[in-house]
Amino acid sequence: MKKTVIISTILMGLLFAQNSKLPDLKMADNNLSFKMIEGYQDYKIVATHFRTDKNELRYILANPIGYNALKEKLKVMPEGSKIVKIGWSVKKMPSFPTALEADEVQRVEYMVKNSKVFNANGDNWGYARFIKKDGKFKAWDKGVNGCISCHSAVKDSDYLFTKLQATF
Ligand code: HEC
Repeated sequence: MKKTVIISTILMGLLFAQNSKLPDLKMADNNLSFKMIEGYQDYKIVATHFRTDKNELRYILANPIGYNALKEKLKVMPEGSKIVKIGWSVKKMPSFPTALEADEVQRVEYMVKNSKVFNANGDNWGYARFIKKDGKFKAWDKGVNGCISCHSAVKDSDYLFTKLQATF
């Protein structure tokens, strides 16, 4: 009996390890990992943005806690909210060149609400960015002070630029 439990635990561990496809990367200054947002591809999209200066298409997604809070227009996002941004380069659609389509993923970044760990930031958010270049992700190594100061411009909406985008 014991043996079966041990074997199945090992097998489940292997299965999980195989399903877990995110690279094992961490931000140097706050230790936030890419794996912290494991499964983000299934989060709901809350908004789409386009940065004209970077020519980059962005999807903003939120985990269920974050999504519900944005839907309810809560003033302060609850603990455990995770907001993810995926950025893509764009290219002309081969079958219809006046349309653009997403080309390569260039970044995945996120904000996670955790007042126990990130209370010194002034906003209770932790920031992480992973840049993809030549097919490989790398943790952002220039620190998170820039994230905090730029996001301070939207202090009144709990440091978030994103609002739930209308779909109807
Ligand atoms: C110079 C300003 C600036 C800096 C620096 C900056 N951001 Fe942002 N961020 C924005 C703007 C503007 C948006 C909304 C437009 C967009 O999606 O690009 C945004 C959106 C986001 C979002 C989606 C939630 C939201 O607030 O709308 C996340 C997550 C995010 N940024 C993470 C980061 C991280 C992590 C860093 C640092 C590594 C960072 N940002 C640095 C300006 C900035």
